[in-house]
Formats: sequence, structure tokens, C-alpha cells
Amino acid sequence: MNSTKQEKAETGDLQSLLAQIGAGLDEYLKFEHADAWANREHWQSRLDMPLPEEGVGIDAVTRELVETVIPNGSPVPRPGFTSYITTSATTASTLATTAANIASPQRYLLTAFNFIEEMSLDWLAQLFGLDGMKGVYSSGGSVANLVALGAARQSAFEKLGRDPARDGVDRAVRVYASAECHHTIQRSGGVLGIGRRAIKPIACDDQGRMRVDALRAAIENDLQDDILPMAIVANAGTTNTGAIDPLESIAQIAREFDIWLHVDGAYGLPGVLDERLAHLYRGLEMVDSIIVDPHKWLGASVGVAATFVRDRDLLERAFTQEPSDYLQGSIEQSGEIDASIEHSLDSLGIPYFDYGVELSAPCRGIVVWALIREIGAAGMRARVRRHNDMARELAQFCKRHPKLELLLEPTLSVCCFRYVAPQVGDLDRFNQRLHRRLVRENVYMPSTTRVNGQLALRPCFIGALAEKPQVDGLLQAVLRTGDALAAEQASAGNRCYDRPEAACQDVSNG
Ligand SMILES: Cc1ncc(COP(=O)(O)O)c(C=O)c1O
Repeated sequence: MNSTKQEKAETGDLQSLLAQIGAGLDEYLKFEHADAWANREHWQSRLDMPLPEEGVGIDAVTRELVETVIPNGSPVPRPGFTSYITTSATTASTLATTAANIASPQRYLLTAFNFIEEMSLDWLAQLFGLDGMKGVYSSGGSVANLVALGAARQSAFEKLGRDPARDGVDRAVRVYASAECHHTIQRSGGVLGIGRRAIKPIACDDQGRMRVDALRAAIENDLQDDILPMAIVANAGTTNTGAIDPLESIAQIAREFDIWLHVDGAYGLPGVLDERLAHLYRGLEMVDSIIVDPHKWLGASVGVAATFVRDRDLLERAFTQEPSDYLQGSIEQSGEIDASIEHSLDSLGIPYFDYGVELSAPCRGIVVWALIREIGAAGMRARVRRHNDMARELAQFCKRHPKLELLLEPTLSVCCFRYVAPQVGDLDRFNQRLHRRLVRENVYMPSTTRVNGQLALRPCFIGALAEKPQVDGLLQAVLRTGDALAAEQASAGNRCYDRPEAACQDVSNG
């Protein structure tokens, strides 16, 4: 065994090794492969091994990645995958991430990467009309919401002369969130020590938007009971249906009662780029915090979200890790850049570690920078508009087709619909089966959700690869699969379709 392999990782010839990985990924992106699970015996038998005592070297690792791991990756990058609100990284994102991994492994110090970290946050604020707001990146919408609610907690308690980050919370508080809010809001309550039960779900209308009358009633009720209103959480694009809460009316209530207003725009904030929908975002100028996930609609690799607030000092008070000798002690200064700086290591730059919950963190701004540099604000606008058009086209088709039912007019790029036919019985169960069969075909993969109690097929178009032909393809696949299932059901004489799912496996597993 070569001693290099045993003793240290090889730097290798990055250019040729990356070229091999690139070729493997190009092949993957043709989407001609079967689903990973179909091949599991093949790859599991190759990959499953005890802890290796001896290394095989970088060439063998590269080969294993290209031959065995990459071809058995995830269905998420497929253009017809519309289940989750994340997609495959675009090429620009992949290149920027790779560059940062090597040339600037941390978002601190005075480097070009870290300059871009701040500039890209400012670009996002400008792109989405968040005038005067400053941001911080984190790993995803879950953490971005947590960071925003940390600021809300700090603000609410500071008004009472307390420091909850230092002393903890000593009284009951309430966060008013749409009943359609993402469940990470509840988890934020748990993490921030106010408890998941502090999140009060506010009823929505039949379009999935928070009811302003119910919000007002809930606040007034709590004030009578001396519960401290900590925040209102509104959605700019719910995960289920893409609904946008009435932001302007909610902002007015927040002002009236002096309550922090947070908007979860993890998915839907980029919808403001579609000028036909911009009016739905009126009121953004009054929010205290807002999040967006570039790893959703903007095409970033997973792991990039941004929280924006009006006052980053508040974030610092909410999340400071307090000075440490090994960090601040080893540099000239942590904040201001001035003439005494002579080396990139003379300052940590902007102290993002004090604005959130991560110390070590990758440069994420470089990804956002690359995405926007590549296609510009105009390209982003065109992509958002194209995806919104796709949802509308699908909706129009459903309205005209006797075997399809539109369950909700799309607001953004989510469309909720289902297959209907008089002879199929329980439509929820039928569409659930149809969905499983679609997924197993491995081409068009929406998720399901419930809309006003009814099971819906729910494609969310956000991937950079998602183009109009995917709408036709999905519709044809749903009709073909629905017709086939209905025919099978008819020939089985509806025997098993009225019994529980398990009893129908033979017919429904497709
Ligand atoms: C509206 C909304 N908020 C928050 C999240 C959580 O984001 P992440 O999965 O990036 O943590 C999601 C995820 O889809 C979302 O749709």
C-alpha cells in the first residue's frame, strides 16, 4: 500500500478529478437511470462494508462516486419532481459552492467571498423590496424562522426591561401564526423556551389565508389574560397551497398592538417578482422580520436561507455567543474595517456568528451571487413568472377537463387538483393510490396535500429545469394513471376499494 494513501489525504489533480465527477453528474442529469431503490441490491452490496482500516486513495474514491453513488442519487433533481420545495442545485450554484469549499471554507475574514456574503444579502433585500433591512444567512427556512423569532422574543422582552437571551423567559407569551404556517414555527417555540404551545394557530379562510378577524380576537383575548403577545407570523406563500396572507391588514394589526410581525417567505417571497402578483405583497414595508430560502425558488444548493430584520443589533443581543479568547483574541478587531487593516486575518469581518445560531458556517452568499450574476434580476423574474404560469395553465386545463377537478385557484406556483370520475368511489383514497403509482413511474412526482379536507395532488413548480412541457406531461400521466386505476377498479367490481388500504395492495400497488 502506497504510504500517501495511508498517511494523508491527497490533494490530487483537482481539475481532472472534478472533470470525472462532472461527467458523472452530466450523465445523471440525463435522467435515463432507474430509481435508486430499484438498484439497491447492486449498490448496497458494493458500498456496505466495515470501517476500512486502509484507504484506497483518491482515484478509487472518485471512481466509486462516479460509478456507484451518483447514479443512485435522489429523484429530487428530475424536472418532473414537484413534491418538495427544494430542487437540485443549478450549475452556477454547484460551481460557486465548490469554489467556496476550497478557497474560503468559512464566511469570516476579509476575503472576496466574505465581501460577497454581505453584498448578496443586500442584493436579495433590493430584489424583493426589503428596503432598509439587513440579513444573515443560515442553513434553511427552519433556522431562518428560528433566528427571526429569536429577534421577536428579544424585542418583546426588552420592551419590559428584560434580556431573555441572558435570563430566559419568565412569563407566558403568545405567537399568532396562521393555521397553515410551516411546522418549524412550532419547533422554534420549543427551541426558544417559550414552548410549542405558545404558538396559537389562527384560522384561515377557504383560500388558506389567515383570517384577520380571528387574529384580532385572539390578541384581544390574550391581553385580557395578561399573556404577552410576542409575534405574529404571516405567510408569503404557504407550503401547502402557496397562499399569501393579507399582509397589509395583518401589518396594521401588528402596528396597532405593537407586536413584532414576522413573514415566512421561505418559498413565496420571490413571488413578488411577478408584477401581476406584487399587490399581494403590499405591507412588506411594515414587517419586522422576513425570511426567504434561495434553496427553494432561486435554484441554490440545499443549505441556503436568509433572515432579514430592520435592526441587526437586536439579532446580536438575541444570539451573541459572548466574546471568546480564541476568536476575538486572535484578531485586531471583529467589526469595523479601517486603515489599520493589513491582512485578511486582521478582522473577522461582519460577526454573523452573533446574528444566528451557527459559528462555523460556509459562505452562502457566493451561491446567491452566482445565481443572480448568471441570469440577473430579469432572469429571476422570468423564472418566477414562468412557474406561476405553469400552475395557472394546469388549473385552466383542470377546469375544462371532466375527469379533473381544480381544488384551489393557484396563487403562486402550486396547483392543487385531483382526478374525479363518478365510478371511482372514495376520491381521497383513489387519488392517494393514483399518486403512489405516479411516483413509482419515476417521471412526474407531485406531492399530495389536503385542501379544505379533500386530498389533492399538489405539484409545486420551482425547479430551474421545470418548463411548460412538464405541465402537459403531468396532466397526461395523471389522466392515464387515473383511467387505468379506474378500469382496474371497475374490473375488480369495486370489491376491495371500499376496504382499508392494506387489503387492496394486490390491485393498487401498480
Ligand atoms: C413556508 C416554509 N417555511 C419554512 C420551511 C422550512 O424550510 P427548510 O426546509 O429549508 O428548513 C419550508 C419548507 O418547505 C417552507 O415551505
